[in-house]
Amino acid sequence: MTTTIVLPDAAALAEHAAREVLADAAAAIRARGYFTFVLSGGNTPRRLYEKLASEPLVSQLPWDRTHVFWGDERHVPPDHAESDYRMARESMLSKVPIPAANVHRIEAELADAAEAARRYEATIRDTFAALGQPASATPSFDLVLLGLGADGHTASLFPGSPALDEQSRWVASPWVEKFNTYRITLTPPILNASAHVIFLASGTDKADAVWASQHERPEPRRRPSQAIRPSNDRLTWLLDTGAASRLDDRSTPGFSA
Ligand code: 6PG
Repeated sequence: MTTTIVLPDAAALAEHAAREVLADAAAAIRARGYFTFVLSGGNTPRRLYEKLASEPLVSQLPWDRTHVFWGDERHVPPDHAESDYRMARESMLSKVPIPAANVHRIEAELADAAEAARRYEATIRDTFAALGQPASATPSFDLVLLGLGADGHTASLFPGSPALDEQSRWVASPWVEKFNTYRITLTPPILNASAHVIFLASGTDKADAVWASQHERPEPRRRPSQAIRPSNDRLTWLLDTGAASRLDDRSTPGFSA
């Protein structure tokens, strides 16, 4: 089921999102002994990451049982200002007791983005094999956090991207004309194999994209966020009032205040 939860502001959004992360972590660790958590890039999740790295929540998350991955990465080194890894490290990972071996970053410093994609796919495969998941199946991340661009992109799946047509590879390295650069991104097949996907969006600049994703007819090549349809149907939109400002139709499926 698709659920939309609207919070009054960005602070409340981060607080609610953090508690959803904790709940998914607790359930995953009860069920399987570990929690696989895909981080989003961009700016929106920073407050969430800071919240997870602060008391009281930081001591409630079993970091030694948590494995973090990224939904996408810019084609830059890990210390670059644009790096999604750097943002997560500065806001959270450097402040929590997560084993270094549980941090599975994308080697976006490699000159060849396609090689970075191949290596990241191997990292995912090997990590899930070590965790005891069958190597044949597409891995199912326990929780995937996704942002939303005003143009409807998510992760680094941009409108018109060939990565939107990917049916088998888990990681792609599309050229992004808009930014004149390569990106490395998880693809719809692996994103949709996840147990739970949360879209986190804040601000009125996202309102049109949120509304279009939920209400316009499915056209994933125009609105990549519509390519995200988890096979087990657990999709949650966490929005502040700005991002939800076009969702004044209370009949939106799963809408709750
Ligand atoms: C990235 C993200 C991207 C991001 C959206 C929203 O690497 O930039 O993965 O999909 O989530 O562009 O970004 P903001 O949170 O900065 O608005």
